[in-house]
Amino acid sequence: MPQTEPLFSQLTPDDDIVAETRNERIGYPNLTTLEGANLKFKRGEVTCIIGGSGCGKSTLMKALIGLLPPLAGEVRLLGENLYALEEDQRNAVLRRVGVLFQNGALINSLSVAENIMLPMRRHTQMPEAVMLATARLKLRQVGLEHALHMLPEQLSGGMKKRAALARALALDPEVLLCDEPSAGLDPLTGAGLDRLLLDIRRIFKISIIVVTHELNSIRAIADRIVMVAPGRLVFFGPLAEALISNDPDLVSFFGRQATEQTASNSLYHLLTEAP
Ligand SMILES: Nc1ncnc2c1ncn2[C@@H]1O[C@H](COP(=O)(O)OP(=O)(O)OP(=O)(O)O)[C@@H](O)[C@H]1O
Ligand SMILES: [Mg+2]
Repeated sequence: MPQTEPLFSQLTPDDDIVAETRNERIGYPNLTTLEGANLKFKRGEVTCIIGGSGCGKSTLMKALIGLLPPLAGEVRLLGENLYALEEDQRNAVLRRVGVLFQNGALINSLSVAENIMLPMRRHTQMPEAVMLATARLKLRQVGLEHALHMLPEQLSGGMKKRAALARALALDPEVLLCDEPSAGLDPLTGAGLDRLLLDIRRIFKISIIVVTHELNSIRAIADRIVMVAPGRLVFFGPLAEALISNDPDLVSFFGRQATEQTASNSLYHLLTEAP
């Protein structure tokens, strides 16, 4: 049987991790949303952050990209603690990262092209014509080339997500973080976006971290799952393990019945518990 090559065998162990949390406490002064999870996001993988509404998925993403300092412990992105860096060094790391925010966050007064050129203006000295050509190329990659000179208000929901994805890809990031990319889209458009993310990962070898609670999307794209509940980590591991786990949070999230073994165990405990 042919041996499958490990995906990134040439990389050192540290290079294999694109983002991590170490003894972290993440949240706000009066609310801890995640504590002591010690997550490691692997290079080349799609990791889905899942969990109920308001449990802290976006908060974790904000902490990962340098927008929310951890209350304790450390968060690292591409090997660096963003919160300990000078602005220049921090920008140098962020230049290698693409972010798609929950609401798309396109600037309404700017054309789609200008929106995509924003990160280029911020992080590079590219000439105007090269920026425009790059914006066109990025839009072609997401199947939206015709929208180059349109305003965000002229785009449908799915088109807005694609335009925001094109902006996140503007500087050929090593890591792409997306917060609810397919939320609010019809299933077909959502599935199209999933395929696009998988294509992007395959073609550009990007690591992708996606916050989502779309079941179909998770099953289609995730290699690994981080499941959070308010204040705690529920699960961190491969999708295949999450799908067969008997953890009640995972069982109810994936809408499965507990296995017969677990069901009969619980019944046994119920019947034998002291009154
Ligand atoms: N800036 C803030 N200050 C204080 N608390 C906040 C702030 N932003 C969010 N929260 C609280 O943190 C918790 C987690 O919010 P978060 O937006 O991370 O949830 P989420 O899992 O992304 O939810 P959703 O699926 O609805 O997007 C919520 O209780 C929310 O009210
Ligand atoms: Mg959110």
